[in-house]
Amino acid sequence: MKKALNKDWYKRAFTLHTMVASPWTMATEQDLAFVLNTLALPAGARVLDLACGFGRHSQELARRGFRVVGIDISEELISYARNEARQSGLQVDYISGDIRQLSFHSEFDAVLGLYEGAIGYSGSKEDDYKILTGVAQALKNGGRYIAHIPNIEYARKRFPEQRWRANSTLIELIEYDWDESARMIFETTYPMRYGEKFEDLKPVYEQRRVYELNEWATMLSSLGLRILQVCGALDEGSVLTDDYDFLSIISVKL
Ligand SMILES: C[S@@+](CC[C@H](N)C(=O)[O-])C[C@H]1O[C@@H](n2cnc3c(N)ncnc32)[C@H](O)[C@@H]1O
Repeated sequence: MKKALNKDWYKRAFTLHTMVASPWTMATEQDLAFVLNTLALPAGARVLDLACGFGRHSQELARRGFRVVGIDISEELISYARNEARQSGLQVDYISGDIRQLSFHSEFDAVLGLYEGAIGYSGSKEDDYKILTGVAQALKNGGRYIAHIPNIEYARKRFPEQRWRANSTLIELIEYDWDESARMIFETTYPMRYGEKFEDLKPVYEQRRVYELNEWATMLSSLGLRILQVCGALDEGSVLTDDYDFLSIISVKL
C-alpha cells in the first residue's frame, strides 16, 4: 500500500468518529505526566497545544491552572473541544487554523506537538519547517518544545507490520508500510466497533514523512532551538532505541 494519499488527506482522516473512542487517545493522563515532569512549567505558564485534536491534553492542562491555546485544522474537533471546555468550566482558547501559519511572538513557555502535532502530514519538509518556524517565534526565550514524532529507525527495522489495538468500544487492526526513498510511513487502520457488521468496515488511511534525528536537530538549530533530551515514546525514563515506534524530542529556545 505504498501509494501517496491525496495531499489534503489529513483534513478528512481525523474526525470525532475516528479519534474519540480510539485506543490511541486513551493515555491522556500518562501523556500529561510526561509533559509536566519533563517541562517543569511554572504555575500559570502559557502553553500552546499544536494540532490539539478534540482537546484532551489542553483541557487537562487548563484544569491544572495553565493558560492554554489549542489549534487544530479541523473545525469539527475544535468546536467539540470548545463545548467540552465550556461544559467543564475550563478556560482554553481554541483556534481553528493551520499550524503552518502560526503568528505568535515570544508568548509561550511551552509548545506541544503531541501525537505528531501534524509534523510530516503533508509530506513536505518545507511545510514542516514552516511549523517549526512558527514554534520558534511563538516561544519565549527559555521556552520548550516537545516534538513527538515517529522513530525512523523503528520504521526501518520493523515495517511492514500489523498491530491490533482494543478498548471497551472497538478493536482496530493497523497496517504499517514504509517507503525508504520517500521517507514516508503509510498507515491503514480498520476500526471494528463491537456490534457493527464487518461489511461496514471503513479503513482510515494516513501517511507521514519522517526525519533522521540529526536532520531534525539541524532544522531546530537553524531556528535557534537546541535539543535538551530525547526519549522513547512519551516515556520519561527511557533511553531511545529502535524498539520505540515514536520518539519525544524536547528542545529549548535559546
Ligand atoms: C494524530 S491527531 C493528534 C491530536 C492531538 N494532539 C491528540 O493527541 O489527541 C493529529 C491532529 O492534527 C490535526 N492537523 C493536521 N494537519 C494540521 C494542520 N496543518 N494544522 C493544524 N492541525 C492539523 C488533525 O486535525 C488532528 O486533530
